[in-house]
Amino acid sequence: MILSPSLLSADCGRLAETLAELRSAGVEWVHWDVMDGHFVPNMTFGQHVIKGLRKASDLFFDVHLMIEEPERYLADFQAAGAQMLVVHAEATRHLQRTLAEIRRLGMQAGVALNPATPLSALEYVLDDVDMVLLMSVNPGFGGQTFLPSTYAKLRRLRAMLDAAGRSGCLVQVDGGVDVENTPALVAAGASVLVSGSAFFKKPPYAERLRAFTKAAASAGRGDAGAQGVLIA
Ligand code: DX5
Ligand code: ZN
Repeated sequence: MILSPSLLSADCGRLAETLAELRSAGVEWVHWDVMDGHFVPNMTFGQHVIKGLRKASDLFFDVHLMIEEPERYLADFQAAGAQMLVVHAEATRHLQRTLAEIRRLGMQAGVALNPATPLSALEYVLDDVDMVLLMSVNPGFGGQTFLPSTYAKLRRLRAMLDAAGRSGCLVQVDGGVDVENTPALVAAGASVLVSGSAFFKKPPYAERLRAFTKAAASAGRGDAGAQGVLIA
């Protein structure tokens, strides 16, 4: 299991310090929630802020675009240092083209689905993605309650990936993830967990990471070492 802490819940006034603290705590991925005030009601940071902080960190930048027409900004986020770029299936008209373009730019490509979006939206793009992100809350805000319908969707997604010969595709769950639901999420097939409020509200970060890792291992699918391999 890879833990990708969401900076949405971090103190924006000291992001550089937080990135350094996450690094020394043993975290390897960090999740950036980019919001445009259209696809979701909220607004956050964009490519300029990420680019500035790229200089301060060698963490793996996992960038979640909650913006309309993300295809307009792919090169900007590549230049900003994104390594995994995730677009919403609901936000881009030509999804396959967008995903292929992300890879062409040298980034890993991810596709996100809102809770109400069916898995069938992915049927013809499974070969174009390195990660599928299942939203377990409606996107836009941190600190929302996890939607239990995510478990069945996760299991179905895993079966779909296995049937398509894409078992190695990462599966990320985002929204309301905490230490308590981690074992069930990992057992249902999640390989990357995003945590915002549950992670940042309880420092020290090394201890939080340990709590999530231990919970994931208790699901019987602990895969220690996967982080380093994936980042390499
Ligand atoms: C929600 C974002 C999430 C959010 C998760 O729109 O995509 O990444 O930061 O926050 P928590 O873990 O607090 O639900
Ligand atoms: Zn997110």
